[in-house]
Amino acid sequence: KKSQAWSALFSEPMSELVKRYTSSVFFDKRMWQADIDGSLAHADMLAAQGIIAAQDLADIQRGMAQIRSEIESGTFEWKLELEDVHLNIEARLTQLVGDAGKRLHTGRSRNDQVATDVRLWLRSEIDQIAVLLADMQRALVAVAAQNTETVMPGFTHMQVAQPVSFAHHLLAYVEMFARDAERLADLRKRVNRLPLGSAALAGTSYPLDRERVARTLGFEAVSQNSLDAVSDRDFAIEFTSFSTLVMIHVSRLAEEIVIWMSQNFGFINLSDRYCTGSSIMPQKRNPDVAELARGKSGRVVGHLMGLITLMKGQPLAYNKDNQEDKEPLFDTVDTVKDTLRIMAEMIGGEVAADGSRSGGLTVKAQAMEAAALRGYATATDLADYLVKKGLPFRDAHEVVAHAVKEGLKLGVDLSDLPLATLQGFDARIEQDVFEVLSLRGSLNARNVLGGTAPAQAQAQIERHLARLS
Ligand code: ARG
Repeated sequence: KKSQAWSALFSEPMSELVKRYTSSVFFDKRMWQADIDGSLAHADMLAAQGIIAAQDLADIQRGMAQIRSEIESGTFEWKLELEDVHLNIEARLTQLVGDAGKRLHTGRSRNDQVATDVRLWLRSEIDQIAVLLADMQRALVAVAAQNTETVMPGFTHMQVAQPVSFAHHLLAYVEMFARDAERLADLRKRVNRLPLGSAALAGTSYPLDRERVARTLGFEAVSQNSLDAVSDRDFAIEFTSFSTLVMIHVSRLAEEIVIWMSQNFGFINLSDRYCTGSSIMPQKRNPDVAELARGKSGRVVGHLMGLITLMKGQPLAYNKDNQEDKEPLFDTVDTVKDTLRIMAEMIGGEVAADGSRSGGLTVKAQAMEAAALRGYATATDLADYLVKKGLPFRDAHEVVAHAVKEGLKLGVDLSDLPLATLQGFDARIEQDVFEVLSLRGSLNARNVLGGTAPAQAQAQIERHLARLS
């Protein structure tokens, strides 16, 4: 009795070790839905083209319906010796409906079947990730909307640079995630092309209607070269590359959350629901979620490297190497989805049915403001003030450096220096300088498109809300 699809040629059974080494069913079974959908579309087309009988199609549909319910209810028996999801389902189908099951694979190979399944599976994941990316942006926008007037120090080199609003800071991440969403929508077009009909590598001699299959499965186009269609996994690499950027953006944000949460900053607090304690230090509340999100970015970067390396040495057309695309791809999808979901919730809170949010991060505006005041964040504003009074910028820069030196000596902010002292550095300085030296004055002054002025942040928030609605 033959135990494998190709056994007639083989005079001895496959080594147990090889069976286990080559089997992928215990991870690729998660594509079962795509596999069944792909097979049904193929069978429907075979019948429409008169390649199989209408009765065969009906049998296949009946068998697949049963298999679907067996898998859903957990009674389907996955067999390692049947190698992968495709052969497992086909074997069960034949068991259930006989010859019709054996006719399903007409004009098809596992090579174009698996390429189709991975694309179908990934496409549905992409659509879920698009929603999660939008949720993440909405969470950030929601917190930003409360904080257009909250002043924090903006940093360069991790040194206090200029005041920015907390809203402006968060909106920077919204831009990053918006670009990620754009990339995702763009790569989806290239995922959404149908390889089926390429067969093993050269196409097939059956009069297949590939366009019909594409329509049934919702593919935007059919692949145009069979060798390419069965062998390249660039779409998976592209997706993982997109995922790497998402995770790197998340990781930067996570890193900032960890810093902001530290007692030495104290800019924010996270709700207890997203913190963990220590088994030894009773006082600890740790931002584990943010740290893990930062850590998990490494895993996705690794998967990108893995997939690129998997592809680089492969001659045309299909090689078994490609079976190794699944675990990195699956884990990338899982990691991105879980991470986006938990980070969005930790930042923006849980969203109730009526759209209200609860439990997001708490902003400690006073600590942020105090930190900005400690770092001479408005030094550039004083220089700009002097430029407006006619001093060349380089000279103004020098004058302000002297003023900062004096402030450091006395341990006070520029705005705390008496007018007379400031005038000692440059006689053009007048009473109106104190508005310029204030954090809010500095913020309001940057009313250029893309700047940190509250009016600009407000306009950006409205643009994002419109875009995301
Ligand atoms: N499990 C295989 C994969 O993931 C399916 C295709 C196998 N084709 C073959 N001729 N061995 O790529």
